[in-house]
Amino acid sequence: MKVYKLFTPTNVGALALKNRIVMAPMTRCRAIGNIPNDLMATYYQQRASAGLIITEGTSPSPNGLGYARIPGIFTEAQVEGWKKVTNAVHKKGGKIVLQLMHTGRISHILNMGKGTHIIAPSAIKATGQMWTDAHKMQDYPMPKAMTTEDITSTQAEYVKAANNAIKAGFDGVELHGANGYLLEEFLSPATNVRTDQYDGNLENRCRFVLEVTAAVAAAIGKDKVGIRLSPYGVAGDMPNYPEIDATYDFLSKELNKLDIAYIHLVDHSAMGAPTVPIEMKELIRTNFKNTLIICGGYDKDSAEADLESELCDLVGFGRPFINNPDLVERLEQGQELSQNLKTDLFYSADAVGYIDYTPYKVPVLHLID
Ligand SMILES: Cc1cc2nc3c(=O)[nH]c(=O)nc-3n(C[C@H](O)[C@H](O)[C@H](O)COP(=O)(O)O)c2cc1C
Repeated sequence: MKVYKLFTPTNVGALALKNRIVMAPMTRCRAIGNIPNDLMATYYQQRASAGLIITEGTSPSPNGLGYARIPGIFTEAQVEGWKKVTNAVHKKGGKIVLQLMHTGRISHILNMGKGTHIIAPSAIKATGQMWTDAHKMQDYPMPKAMTTEDITSTQAEYVKAANNAIKAGFDGVELHGANGYLLEEFLSPATNVRTDQYDGNLENRCRFVLEVTAAVAAAIGKDKVGIRLSPYGVAGDMPNYPEIDATYDFLSKELNKLDIAYIHLVDHSAMGAPTVPIEMKELIRTNFKNTLIICGGYDKDSAEADLESELCDLVGFGRPFINNPDLVERLEQGQELSQNLKTDLFYSADAVGYIDYTPYKVPVLHLID
């Protein structure tokens, strides 16, 4: 019988994982008041057989809470709320890291608290609309270009948030450097036209991401820090640009020098985005010596193929974890996956379409006697 690498244990930085299946970060908008709760603890506990759970995007700052009902990690109440989640997952033998997501210009003030600002490297607004609970779909607003003080204070917020994550019992943090949010906005010349040391050339455009990564690694330990990247991704109105290969070549080499635990590469071609060229995946694989996770559109066989060819060390599954809480067991035992994915309930506010997907049931045989 074939032995699948997918189900073998491995180490990622400081973490010993029971298998190579990662539950990808997925925003689910159940954090009423931006505070994690019992419902979320149940949801994550149901999925604790993943080798590693990466939480939904969680804001390190009141300025980064751009979506409705996403959680934060900058208040005591949020830390207490997250403790319920980490305890629930650890009780089942799972490992869980917190994704730090500052939404940057992909934010709406109607979703945010008093005294907050929508900030970005430059005052360039995204084309498109986003959901607000108060007034439904709204155009993306014009962000405020970050001042030097904003840059310093935002970096400090990331550090505080990472420390809070450890206080809340997380096994580490993942910096969200993908999908058009604040960190990626610094990387791209389409969203970063600053005239200081954070733009002008690709090294400068990588500076904020590298400074945040270094500061977070210094605070909680480099072996507890990963980063998610999405070269060639278009989410959040991020167009392609001529220096994209050179940017990620430089960035991945610099991340390697920081010796963090992992890079988590996103390929959203299965969701209609452009394909990430294989050369880009191989480039990051070559430049970065620690763990590489790749995510997007995988099934058991394609995941196993990329592990066996050593293109990556772990594989992320997103949507399959939503309607298959026992995804690992189903893949391992060759059971059918649920096809009943309720996409209209991805971002709703309650238990329906969230914790009511059931584990695999052996079909009942109706014998005729
Ligand atoms: C409902 C939903 C919410 C998501 N939220 C996030 C998020 O908070 N952070 C993030 O990095 N990616 C997010 N993603 C992207 C997933 O992590 C993953 O990359 C994507 O679903 C592709 O993997 P899949 O084909 O296995 O679903 C989200 C995807 C979905 C479907």
